[in-house]
Amino acid sequence: MTILNNISLKPFNTFGIDVNAKHFVSVERIEDLKSIYSTEKDTDKFILGGGSNMLLTKAVDKLVIHLNLKGKTIVSKTDDYVLIESQAGENWHEFVLWTLKQDFGGLENLSLIPGNVGTSPIQNIGAYGVELKDHFYSCKALNLETLELETFNNEDCNFGYRNSIFKQEAKGKYIITSVVFKLSTKNHTLHTNYGAITSQLEHLNIKQPTVQDVSNAVIAIRKSKLPDPKKIGNSGSFFKNPVISSEAFSVLQKNFPDPPHYMISETEIKVPAGWLIETAGFKGKTFGNYGVHKNQALVLVNYSDAKGEDILNLSKLIQDTIYRIFNISIEAEVNIF
Ligand code: EPU
Repeated sequence: MTILNNISLKPFNTFGIDVNAKHFVSVERIEDLKSIYSTEKDTDKFILGGGSNMLLTKAVDKLVIHLNLKGKTIVSKTDDYVLIESQAGENWHEFVLWTLKQDFGGLENLSLIPGNVGTSPIQNIGAYGVELKDHFYSCKALNLETLELETFNNEDCNFGYRNSIFKQEAKGKYIITSVVFKLSTKNHTLHTNYGAITSQLEHLNIKQPTVQDVSNAVIAIRKSKLPDPKKIGNSGSFFKNPVISSEAFSVLQKNFPDPPHYMISETEIKVPAGWLIETAGFKGKTFGNYGVHKNQALVLVNYSDAKGEDILNLSKLIQDTIYRIFNISIEAEVNIF
């Protein structure tokens, strides 16, 4: 384990923003993580997982700790389900494919999400009707004060829409080192009623889909809508979908016929931020080397060597415009540094 100086973080964030880390260390063992925290007590630290949910707007004048813990094991298996533990530094999509290859069911709708396993619980990643919390069993996290590993069960994590305890009271206090998933080994419960999945399966004439089929459908949908971060820098959805009151929704309906929406409760309605941004005229807009993706307005993109600050300013312009037009506040989903 070597601490390097002045390292570009461009390869370590999916937005592809080129800023330097003052110090950088890649950690492959929990013991090394503990040793950094005991020897570098007074150094400011910055934890880096897959770098898929952040926008870097300035140089990181800290010790960047790149979590590179690898390995996956089957913890236990019954006739109906399996518990699998993956270390935090495993790539999320490769891990999902590995589970599907063994015909373990549960994570298929979450195929092709960028990032690593260790950061997936922080924002409770979700797509096409499934959220991480539906298959999360527990995780181990290093308590940065005691340097002991603690276990968080599903209930301990307070999962919500793109939210968990690790974004709230536990923020900055723990590093997730591994996650255990509970997956089915037979009679898989498939979630295929999300419009795009249904039509993709129909298109392929698949009547009784396997978990692999669902994963392939999700991969095809994501590829058609979302830019590949290896080709165009991005961080997936830049904003969360706002939840508004039924009164506010009635006002919206008066001004805009038939806005897409999902009922959250009797009094709360979720409106897709992508629709708000598209209606405000931003979809596909480019501002030199950055802009709003042409197929999904929720995604901001870096076409070449954009500055994080420019993308942050664009996000503020979008937020202000949405507020002015619709009287709705939209919140960033990505972490901004
Ligand atoms: N829409 C538009 N214009 C757009 C995009 C969306 O009008 O440019 C409207 C459409 O009416 C569509 C609706 O918004 O029916 C929903 O769009 P979509 O199915 O693409 O989903 P989303 O709400 O935009 C969310 C997640 C995605 C996830 C998809 C699929 C959030 C913030 N985003 O997007 O997650 O893949 O659902 O489940 O909840 C991510 O978090 O990085 C991410 C990509």
